[in-house]
Parts: sequence; structure tokens; C-alpha cells
Amino acid sequence: MRVISVVSGKGGVGKTTAVANLGVILASKYKKNVILVDCNITTPHLGLYMGIDHHPVTLNHVLKGKARLSEAVYHHPSGAKVIPSSLALRELDGVDVANIKSTISRLKKEYPETDFIFLDCAPGLGREAMAGMRSSEEILFVTTPYFPIVADTVKCNQVAGELGLKPLGIVLNMKKGNKHELSSVEVEGIAELPIIGSVSLHHDVLKSLHKRIPVAINSPLSKASVEFVQIAAALAGEKIPKGGFFGMILRIFD
Ligand SMILES: Nc1ncnc2c1ncn2[C@@H]1O[C@H](COP(=O)(O)OP(=O)(O)OP(=O)(O)O)[C@@H](O)[C@H]1O
Ligand SMILES: [Mg+2]
Repeated sequence: MRVISVVSGKGGVGKTTAVANLGVILASKYKKNVILVDCNITTPHLGLYMGIDHHPVTLNHVLKGKARLSEAVYHHPSGAKVIPSSLALRELDGVDVANIKSTISRLKKEYPETDFIFLDCAPGLGREAMAGMRSSEEILFVTTPYFPIVADTVKCNQVAGELGLKPLGIVLNMKKGNKHELSSVEVEGIAELPIIGSVSLHHDVLKSLHKRIPVAINSPLSKASVEFVQIAAALAGEKIPKGGFFGMILRIFD
């Protein structure tokens, strides 16, 4: 069982998008047992991104000791399990993020058949983000190809080192291939981390958000979906499918 926190120094770089898509791909394509946990308690989006609208019991209730873990686990059609956080402001009252660590330990015990637990963390290095990181064993960084954002990743990686977490590498998101972007080699050089895979800035991702269906399910042939499949394959130690036009033809006949 692997517990992976998904982090970034800066907000809005694509952590939740990555968690949702990697989760559904690992569950549906690679038949892995996956649990996705929304550890971004103050501004939670995971349930929204996955179309889980009705969630009366959330991680907030569990952290407050008002519900059992199993009551906060929702089943996504992909096969992934999701523990959302509450959208209601009042549900923040009495939540102590320091309880996330013991909650994840319980999750591991109560769901021993799980292959992957992904923790969708709050951005930055505040108490909330650190609570998610501390609850994991491995850490996946999401960044965009711009210097300030990559510089924040350096800081996050230093903290991950202090916490003794295994760095898996970077998901380089929202890549457009423009000249003013950092190249993959530059990102790897600055961050001193390998890039596991890149995901293009693509309108299909935003279209899928509108429908509340991860792009990998909503538009499986989209460039961004294929790129997420490649990253999921790398994480699962599976053969990485081909991208580009040839890969597209193969997938149509798959
Ligand atoms: N590859 C992409 N192409 C186009 N839009 C994207 C891509 N990745 C993410 N987005 C969009 O960017 C916005 C931010 O993404 P997301 O919510 O996943 O970031 P985040 O890092 O989880 O943010 P936060 O730090 O606030 O939790 C969303 O509207 C999402 O749909
Ligand atoms: Mg998010």
C-alpha cells in the first residue's frame, strides 16, 4: 500500500486535477484499489471535480470524531473511492488537521486491500498542507513550467526531505511548449527532481471540470488524458503507453 501526498508550493497548479485523473485511471484502467482523500480542508474541490455532489458525511466529520471513516467513503463509478471534505464553512468549526495523520493510519488498517491512497493537499507549507504531507510516505509535486512556481517546488522538496518522505518526482502541468516556459530539462535542473510526466494546458480539462467528470473519462482520447495515463502507468510500474498520433490510432482500436 502506498500513501502519496500530492503537493505544490503555489495554489492552482493542478493538484486536484492530477489526483482525480490519476485516481480514476489507476482504478479503471490498471484495476488498482485506490482511495482519494481531500486534505485541502479549507478549500476542498475533489468531490466537485469527481461529480460527488451529495456527501452528507465528510472528512471533517471524521476529524471531529462525529462519524466513522467508512461513512465518509464514497464510491466513484471508475472504481476509485473518494473521501471528500465539506464545502460548508460551519463544518470547519472544531476540525483539527493534526488528526489527519491518525485518520490515514486508520484508513490503512480498515482498507488493507488498498494499493494507492492519494492525499490531495492544500497548497503551500502552512499547517494544513504540512498535515497532509506528514500523513504520507511518498510525495508527488505538481508544478507549472514557470520559474517562481518551480522555485516553490524546491522549498517543498526541502521540507519533504526533512520529513523523510520519498520524493516521486514532478508532474509538470499546463505545458504549452511556448518559448517563455521553462523546458523540462530546466525544471528538472532547478528542482533537482525527475519529471514523471507532463500534461498539456488543454481546454478539454476545463470542459471536463464543467461536467464534473475527470478528463480521462470525459475525453479519453484527449492529449491531456493520454498524458495522465502515461503518468499513472509510471506510478503503477506499468508499460507506458505511446503518445502522439501513433498512440492515438492504437487507442482508437484498443
Ligand atoms: N492541464 C490543464 N489544462 C487546462 N486547465 C487545467 C489543467 N490542469 C488544471 N487546470 C485547471 O486549472 C484550475 C486549477 O486546477 P486545480 O484545482 O487542479 O489546481 P490545484 O493545484 O488543486 O488548486 P488549489 O491549490 O487551489 O487546490 C482548474 O480550473 C483546472 O480545471
Ligand atoms: Mg486543489
